[in-house]
Amino acid sequence: MHSNSDDDQLPDPQDSVRRERREDAVASFLQQTPVIYQHDIDLHPKAAAWAAREADAPISLFLTGAIGVGKTHTAWQATRHWIGQHIATTGRQPSVETWRSTALFDALRPDSRDYDGRALTAQLQRADLLYIDDLAAARVSPGGWTQERLYELFDERYINRRPVLITCDVLPSQTEHIVGERVQSRLREMFRGGVCLLEGDDRRAGGTQ
Ligand SMILES: Nc1ncnc2c1ncn2[C@@H]1O[C@H](COP(=O)(O)OP(=O)(O)OP(=O)(O)O)[C@@H](O)[C@H]1O
Ligand SMILES: [Mg+2]
Repeated sequence: MHSNSDDDQLPDPQDSVRRERREDAVASFLQQTPVIYQHDIDLHPKAAAWAAREADAPISLFLTGAIGVGKTHTAWQATRHWIGQHIATTGRQPSVETWRSTALFDALRPDSRDYDGRALTAQLQRADLLYIDDLAAARVSPGGWTQERLYELFDERYINRRPVLITCDVLPSQTEHIVGERVQSRLREMFRGGVCLLEGDDRRAGGTQ
């Protein structure tokens, strides 16, 4: 006799397609990950919880802490998990932009030789996840082009609730001189409840790895 439990045993073809897609996407992101950040570490629970959020309720994450404490490693690994979770819940491969702040701010300049600032801004506005590493490392002139582009970029992401992941060695309250007043106001709301402080020593100093 036919029973429901037999049905339950059958592999759902959609599930296996998703699983394969997820494994491929995670493996390909691992390939793009800088070598020293490819091995798994114990993720801070807040970063792990961020990555495990349902894709229909994405939130932003601000990873802060002293130099060498593990922010960038945490960010790459959390992003990898975030991608896997996104595919598991939506079945769709997300677009993820990963940028060092210094390279990003150079690329956004109107005289950039390598990028069309307008096209890049549009691409970064739309990406499913934007990860900016080491925000406080970049130098910006107040009220200049970079801050104007950052405004366009962050305002569009803010009004569409698109998540941003930032690593930074200063607190989110101390980034106004970099991003400008209007972006700072938006970041305050985007990162409400989404600040993760990593504590500890500079792991590069030795003895802790
Ligand atoms: N939880 C961890 N366990 C073991 N090693 C770790 C861990 N987190 C980071 N590391 C290692 O510590 C070193 C420093 O980490 P990372 O580059 O992420 O620091 P950071 O906080 O981003 O530093 P900075 O502020 O200078 O950018 C790297 O070699 C990294 O692989
Ligand atoms: Mg770093």
